[in-house]
Amino acid sequence: MTVDASSLASLANQAKEWRRTIHQYPELLFDLPKTSALVTEKLTEFGCDEVVAGIAKTGVIAVINGSNGPGRTIALRCDMDALPMAEQTNLPYASKVENMMHACGHDGHTAMLLATAKQLAETRDFVGKAVLIFQPAEEGGAGARVMIEEGVLDRFGIEEVYGMHNQPGLAVGSFAIRSGAMMAGGDRFVITINGKGGHAAYPHLARDPVLAGAQMIVALQAIASRFTNPFDPVVLSATFMEGGNAGALNVIPAAIRIGGTIRTMNAETRKMVEERFREVATSNARALGCEAVIDWRPGYPVTVNDPEKTKVAAQAASAVAGADRVNTDWPATMGSEDFSYMLEKRPGAMIWLGNGDSADLHNPAYDFNDDAIVHGVRYWLSLVDQRLNGTAGE
Ligand code: NI
Repeated sequence: MTVDASSLASLANQAKEWRRTIHQYPELLFDLPKTSALVTEKLTEFGCDEVVAGIAKTGVIAVINGSNGPGRTIALRCDMDALPMAEQTNLPYASKVENMMHACGHDGHTAMLLATAKQLAETRDFVGKAVLIFQPAEEGGAGARVMIEEGVLDRFGIEEVYGMHNQPGLAVGSFAIRSGAMMAGGDRFVITINGKGGHAAYPHLARDPVLAGAQMIVALQAIASRFTNPFDPVVLSATFMEGGNAGALNVIPAAIRIGGTIRTMNAETRKMVEERFREVATSNARALGCEAVIDWRPGYPVTVNDPEKTKVAAQAASAVAGADRVNTDWPATMGSEDFSYMLEKRPGAMIWLGNGDSADLHNPAYDFNDDAIVHGVRYWLSLVDQRLNGTAGE
């Protein structure tokens, strides 16, 4: 499948327009009526074989059959949601919605996958089937998990899944990937420590939850430093404390709360950390005559790239960028990503696309780099070509 330079440039130009439209009307979580309608309308206009909207509320699936006969089915996935923050870019196409902003580049991801759909539906020069997944609620809503729960992987016969996310600091036209764990699993916790309130001058008559909380925060750090292999990273951050009253400094409160987040890079370690956490928090509170009530809030799993599919993705990227612009040993990060749910169910790989020297993700000055669009679209087309026309993988 070859695309000539001028039609690729015009496709990238159209995608830029779509990207800027989406950018001006950011929407959150599962509530993406405008974005979802735009995506559905375009996919229908392109003549995709199937366009199914309304999965996970506003998710959209497009199926495009190759014209070269039956074969395997692969999914290309993008996310569509924005973030609840105020944009500070002063761009002419900046967000028109107060306190909502595309600060993670999902506008760009959506536009690139739309352009890919257009090209694939037009040429169909491949064997098998491409399923394009436009997903809501990546930012904290686990939209990928909800789409799986609503049956997309089985319903559309998806055998492999591929994702792409832009990466500030990586040169435009470059790609980066790693085999195995590439993003962390993230869980959150809130602990209520119940003691017995009393006069601070007579602490023996009370059971002090403040002292218990202070000791607990320190003790919990030992999970990272004393129970996990130093080569298996764990981050445990207490980020929230609440209790007592600054207007009553001679009063020991009856209860306090502490909370925070935990990041791990390995499913077994994640399980071990949770067990240890419950043990350490419960026994620490008990030692001070208090009781710990733990509200454990599971977050996204570890994002794990399948080794074979990582090679497929790297080969597809190398075909468009040149091998010297594809870093296959990019460091893992402590961020989380809900594409991890799809990678738990099907083999696949997530790749980073260079966003150049931009502000960081989730920064109010961030903007997706339109110059990256052409590279992202070429990657998707190359992946379909390499994987479905049998030139990558087995
Ligand atoms: Ni993102």
